[in-house]
This record gives sequence, structure tokens and C-alpha cells, in this order.
Amino acid sequence: MKIIVTTTHSVKESDILLQEFLQETRWEFVPRRRKSLAYISREHESPGIVVWHNDGPVLHLADEKFFFHPSMAKIRINAYRNRQIIDPLIKACDLKAQDHVLDCTLGMGADSIVAAYFTGIKVVGLEASFPAAMMVKWGMKTYHSGINWLDEAIHRIEAVPADHKTFLKSLPDDSFDIVYFDPMFRQPLMDSKPLAPLRLLADHDPLTAESLAEACRVARKRVVMKELYRSGEMQRLGFDEFVGSLNNPIRYGYVLTDRSSRKKGKRC
Ligand SMILES: C[S@@+](CC[C@H](N)C(=O)[O-])C[C@H]1O[C@@H](n2cnc3c(N)ncnc32)[C@H](O)[C@@H]1O
Repeated sequence: MKIIVTTTHSVKESDILLQEFLQETRWEFVPRRRKSLAYISREHESPGIVVWHNDGPVLHLADEKFFFHPSMAKIRINAYRNRQIIDPLIKACDLKAQDHVLDCTLGMGADSIVAAYFTGIKVVGLEASFPAAMMVKWGMKTYHSGINWLDEAIHRIEAVPADHKTFLKSLPDDSFDIVYFDPMFRQPLMDSKPLAPLRLLADHDPLTAESLAEACRVARKRVVMKELYRSGEMQRLGFDEFVGSLNNPIRYGYVLTDRSSRKKGKRC
């Protein structure tokens, strides 16, 4: 899909972060020169236009706007900070401070931010869709809310444009504590508004048994997957331990990968 880059009417083309963004994405830059986005889109036959704002990039695509925002992560972390409610992701991963987390499906980055808040260290997030990876990486880089705990967690995430199918194979055994998957649901929850723009860009393939086996080799403690329980994906892949309430269709399945449980004959 062709994507070009322009600015708002007020941002200067010489903006250093914009120049770095253009260098990494290799997307063509089109000076704004007071033209409308619809005009630029037609002129360059480009369905996607990234508009660089003073506070980061916004991708305009098919009447949707795609930009990084940590709204869901902030709500989930605040639930813990204000009401001591522990997020199901943290329970499923049995996450401890200093655990190394590999998020194989970065998406909008909400799960990575929650993990980065609780571990207090860097989280690596892989995203197979190059446009989604770039928007989230540079959106995170330019994001400043003034809320220290939130900004610090966001800036601990290393967003990597990569397909986990190949990336996992390149990693040594036991190189992360937790490997996490949140593939696009087989049957999307259509009321999930925050994911609507991501659906246009995302890799929709299901998790493969081969990737799960690689993840089990790479994870020192656990491999975790989020899915709709009714999708049958947990059963297909052999997850048999779950976190999540019965009245919520979303479950977190996990398999233990530590050496002692392997000796006991667990599948990972
Ligand atoms: C449901 S979203 C993840 C949402 C994310 N957990 C969050 O909190 O925002 C799934 C994402 O994983 C990405 N994805 C799917 N398959 C992938 C793969 N093989 N490697 C890397 N990313 C992948 C999709 O492109 C999509 O952006």
C-alpha cells in the first residue's frame, strides 16, 4: 500500500524527528503548501497519508485516523494504582519486576505498556505490519503526557517492525522470560472501536503451532496468548490453563515453559 508523508500547516519540514521518521520509513515526503489532504491523496494516487503533527504522526487511511494513544493502557494501570485491581495479563504472565517480555503482536501497544509498567524494564514489541509498527513506534517516541509513570512505561518499549514467525527463530533458547501473543481475533468484536483503524493494516493470520513451539523454546517461564475462548484457537494450539472471568469472552491461555515443568512432561 502506498503511503506518503506531509505535515500540518504549522509544522516545519526541517523538524528533526520528522526527518528521522522519513529516513526510517523511506516514505515519500510531499510539502503541504496549503493543499488539502484529499487533494494531495488524489495528486499522488496514495490511499494513505501520514500527517506529521507537533506531537507525532497521524495516518489518514480510508476515512480512519490511525495514531498512537495509550488510553486503554492508562485505564488498566490506573485500575491497579487506584483500586489494586490486577490486570489479567499480569496474572496470566505471572509477571514479576525485571521479567523480560517479548510481545509478539504489538498492535497499538497497550499490552506492552501494561507489561512495561509492571516489569520496570524494557519490553520488546514485534509488529508485522510495517505501517502499524512505524506509527506506533514514532507515536510512542513523541508521546509526552506529563504523567511520569505512564511516559516512562511507554518509552521503555522497543517497537520492532518484524514478523514473529521469523524473528522467534533467530532468538536463542530461554532469551526472554515471557513470550506473549495477541493475534487478531478470528471473529472480531465489532464494538472494539480503538482497534478499527488497526484492522485495515494488521496481519490477520492465526498463530501457528510452529511459532508457538519456537516461543516455548525462547520463553524461560511462560508463553501466553489472548483470544476469544469461543474461537477454538486455545484448544487448537493446546492451551489448557486460563485466566479471565467466565462472563468475559476474552481469555488468556498460558503454558509453563520453565525447566522443571518440562521434566514433568508438559507440552512446552
Ligand atoms: C490484536 S492486535 C494486538 C493488540 C495489542 N496487544 C495491544 O494491546 O494493542 C494484533 C497485532 O499483531 C500483529 N501481528 C499479527 N501477526 C503477527 C506476526 N506474525 N508478527 C508480528 N505481528 C503480528 C497484527 O498486525 C496486529 O497489529
